[in-house]
Amino acid sequence: MSGDAAIRIRDLTVAYHEAPVLWDIDLDVPSGTIMGIVGPNGSGKSTLIKSIMGIVEPAGGEILVFGKPFSAQRKRVGYVPQRTSVDWDFPTTVLDVVLMGTYGSLGWFRRPGRDQINAALHAIERVGMSDYVDRQISELSGGQQQRTFLARALVQQAEIYLMDEPFQGVDARTERAIVEILREMRRLGRTLVIVHHDLQTVSHYFDLVTLLNIRVIATGPVGDVFHDENLRKTYGGGQEFSLRR
Ligand SMILES: Nc1ncnc2c1ncn2[C@@H]1O[C@H](COP(=O)(O)OP(=O)(O)O)[C@@H](O)[C@H]1O
Ligand SMILES: [Mg+2]
Repeated sequence: MSGDAAIRIRDLTVAYHEAPVLWDIDLDVPSGTIMGIVGPNGSGKSTLIKSIMGIVEPAGGEILVFGKPFSAQRKRVGYVPQRTSVDWDFPTTVLDVVLMGTYGSLGWFRRPGRDQINAALHAIERVGMSDYVDRQISELSGGQQQRTFLARALVQQAEIYLMDEPFQGVDARTERAIVEILREMRRLGRTLVIVHHDLQTVSHYFDLVTLLNIRVIATGPVGDVFHDENLRKTYGGGQEFSLRR
């Protein structure tokens, strides 16, 4: 867990229509680690990921990716958006979606060639979707859509991956397959930041965790910060969020 900060955030504030949804965020993601981002609905998790990607314009603060602004590091960062935020009726196939992951290495006006198609097919095989290469994405189950996104991220060969609830709506088998791929990516030295909502699996999946509720409630190694008291601060006292079932 050594290495420089892959992502360094200082004093980040984000507001939609002047209402702050992220307030004074300081966060370091060391390279080569898997960090979970955990917090209640509407706590700003997706906004945090979008801010790092430059999709959302911050009201203030600084975000550095390997020491530089995101705009200079675009190719080194892969993004897996929240599945429910995507228009799945768009007429396109699994292969075409995964090929989009190769565009960064192509430039805008060149069409994907043999190498790109082979890379895409290999990634599709890794996520267990080989039987669906030519399937329209509108005809996929939630788990298949999620695996298609993961394949697109894999062909991108990025160093940092930001994933927004990659386990949402997937079955247990798909979840295990995705976790295996994430661990393989970590073995290869990738940095993964993963928005997650199942508290029971946090200690199992992540090295580090950030508890978020507009502010950073706590961030650090799972063993140090992921405990009942911090969970109460994050989710509020009204509900029981004990980690012991
Ligand atoms: N495009 C937007 N315009 C206005 N408000 C938004 C927009 N996106 C998100 N919000 C609001 O910002 C807050 C944080 O949203 P979000 O980052 O999606 O939270 P989370 O991913 O943790 O559920 C919520 O209150 C949400 O309603
Ligand atoms: Mg979200």
